[in-house]
Amino acid sequence: METRRISNTKFLISKYEEFTIWETENKRVYDDFNEICNLFEEFLVSNILTDKHYCEEVFDRIILVMENCNDLHFDNEFESVAYSLMHLLNRYHRAQLISRLLVREGLLPVREKSSDILEVGIGPGNMSLGVSDCYRSLKQFGEDKRIEKFINLDFSLDYIEFSCAFRKWLHHFNEHIYGKRNEHTRIPYHLGSFNDVYKVDFQSLKLKYQQDLIEKYMEEYGCSKGDAQKIVDEEVGGWKDAYRYNLVIFSNFITISEQVSRLDHQLDSICRALRNGGSILIVGGIGDNYIDIYKELIKKIQKIPYMKVDFNSAEDDPLCSFSYNDIYGNRIDKFYQNLIAHLDSLDLDSNSYLEFRKEITKLSDAKKTWKVIVFRKQLNKRFVD
Ligand SMILES: C[S@@+](CC[C@H](N)C(=O)[O-])C[C@H]1O[C@@H](n2cnc3c(N)ncnc32)[C@H](O)[C@@H]1O
Repeated sequence: METRRISNTKFLISKYEEFTIWETENKRVYDDFNEICNLFEEFLVSNILTDKHYCEEVFDRIILVMENCNDLHFDNEFESVAYSLMHLLNRYHRAQLISRLLVREGLLPVREKSSDILEVGIGPGNMSLGVSDCYRSLKQFGEDKRIEKFINLDFSLDYIEFSCAFRKWLHHFNEHIYGKRNEHTRIPYHLGSFNDVYKVDFQSLKLKYQQDLIEKYMEEYGCSKGDAQKIVDEEVGGWKDAYRYNLVIFSNFITISEQVSRLDHQLDSICRALRNGGSILIVGGIGDNYIDIYKELIKKIQKIPYMKVDFNSAEDDPLCSFSYNDIYGNRIDKFYQNLIAHLDSLDLDSNSYLEFRKEITKLSDAKKTWKVIVFRKQLNKRFVD
């Protein structure tokens, strides 16, 4: 029988409904969430929040974290822990929903070869962790339903993160997850490859890699530069496929308008580094102060001839909000109650801790809503990369 090949995008869209039914029947999204809640609680209680003085320092930063992330210095360990405490779980759930949105829209990379994903400003890892767990679920769905494309899914994750405190956090937290699951999250727990997004230039890195390989071949084989270059350039994959990505994520990274112009060169470099069909995923807040940011971003990226807006979320998209009074919110509430019992047992009674306890009780009425924009690279013959 003749089998007609369809694009990855169409294939993914065609499987979305079946995948959703399978995930609902198997409680996949909730079980993953519950597991992360348990792992996070264990990790905090046994490794991080073990000393009263340390906890006081963390809670001294917590109100700042709740009120204004733009003024934070994430290199401060206490601030990075406070940030994780307040944001990791609700944003992990958000990442779960956004990953399903990417499946729904055919935008999660599912190519035959391994896909490369990069997150800019990864923080405690909530977004990458959610994407990684969605791939895990897709793979299990594939195994259950015998869908070869999903069974063979593979991807790698890397990150750009400035803060040593978050790098340290990612190292220990991902190691903790690995210890319990006996399975890597794919977030590199040794170290992500890049520190400062404002200094990254993928094309220069690629050329440097080519030159390093040429020198290596010249040394190893004693050949001329011309011959070494021929070998290096003819290698399948090799330097030409280095520093290339299928998905680049910015989650809560661009929070002020000036960042768009500051990122001018980097956005160009990232667009060039995308493989054909690859995407940039922007996740951020909604509200008046974000309107200009998104306008600027769309204006900037659409100027690049091969980039287009592929998805721009509507306010009522069910995968762009969740309410604290649903089962996920209830689980977060349970997490905070357990944490409070632990902190009370350390006799923590600072004003900032008491303030945190008060703020936590207000969460049950809250609704979290976010914006998702996806830009996609679509090269035609006129624009050769
Ligand atoms: C608001 S947090 C967002 C964290 C996470 N992506 C999320 O969705 O919650 C911003 C992150 O960007 C990192 N960051 C700030 N400036 C950076 C830079 N120049 N290069 C790389 N990372 C940076 C911070 O350390 C922090 O982890």
